[in-house]
Amino acid sequence: MALENDLHALAVEIAREAGALAIRRRAEGVAIAATKSAAADIVTEADREVEALIRARLAAARPHDGFLGEETGAERGTSGITWVVDPIDGTVNYAYGIPVWAVSIAAVSGDPDPRLWTAEAAAVYAPATDELFHAVRGGGAWLGDERLAVNAERGVAGALLATGFGYDPATHAGDLARVARVMPLARDLRRIGAASLDLAYVAAGRLDGYFERGLNPWDHAAGALLVTEAGGAVGGAPDGRPGQTMTLASGHALFDDLAFAALGVTGS
Ligand code: IPD
Ligand code: CA
Repeated sequence: MALENDLHALAVEIAREAGALAIRRRAEGVAIAATKSAAADIVTEADREVEALIRARLAAARPHDGFLGEETGAERGTSGITWVVDPIDGTVNYAYGIPVWAVSIAAVSGDPDPRLWTAEAAAVYAPATDELFHAVRGGGAWLGDERLAVNAERGVAGALLATGFGYDPATHAGDLARVARVMPLARDLRRIGAASLDLAYVAAGRLDGYFERGLNPWDHAAGALLVTEAGGAVGGAPDGRPGQTMTLASGHALFDDLAFAALGVTGS
């Protein structure tokens, strides 16, 4: 368990430092640096600066590890560990001043592909609310020093679900059709705006379930470990794993119905 614990401690320490930098930059004012995949897909100077800080800290502490970050891309390592990083998840919330965004850092082992990797440690830090969600494989999921557990039971009123929508307007009709299929399971639906926190909230029992198409590896790497370590189920597609086609998370009692409604097939 020693390696996972070391990775966990490092993820937590760097997430806190990165979050403090993002908060300082937010207070100074946010400048949109560029648009990416679509006009709505923005990157701020802070996203870039925070990722550079995380990457430098990781390189100094563990020079042989690989890296996969939203803003600076992938670099293979030689240690078998890869860090999967979203410096600011929920950039649109960050830019608008909605305090629901997070630094997301995961350490994964094996092939750095979400269909194949094993998540070892995770930190999802929401600096604006000073909430630190963290997990280590086999060691549970935590909010600060409080152990997390998903909602295992299905309530009679239906599930409190969350989802998200891609930046590309061409994907909206399909996403809305999926929402219509899932709504019979729901007591209500949230669109929180940061996938890492959607997953953290499932882990914490603040949501009963979450589904979203179009996520990138850095959006779900840390949050998925939070959910499984909190006793929940995570899946999606391709290959029954969280991915571009679908990411799913909930307690086990809800999972198959959620997967069927969101994806048209059962199972994780
Ligand atoms: C986005 C957020 C959002 C989700 C998008 C992601 P970003 O990440 O997680 O909730 O719906 O698919 O791209 O761009 O803020 O890092
Ligand atoms: Ca981001």
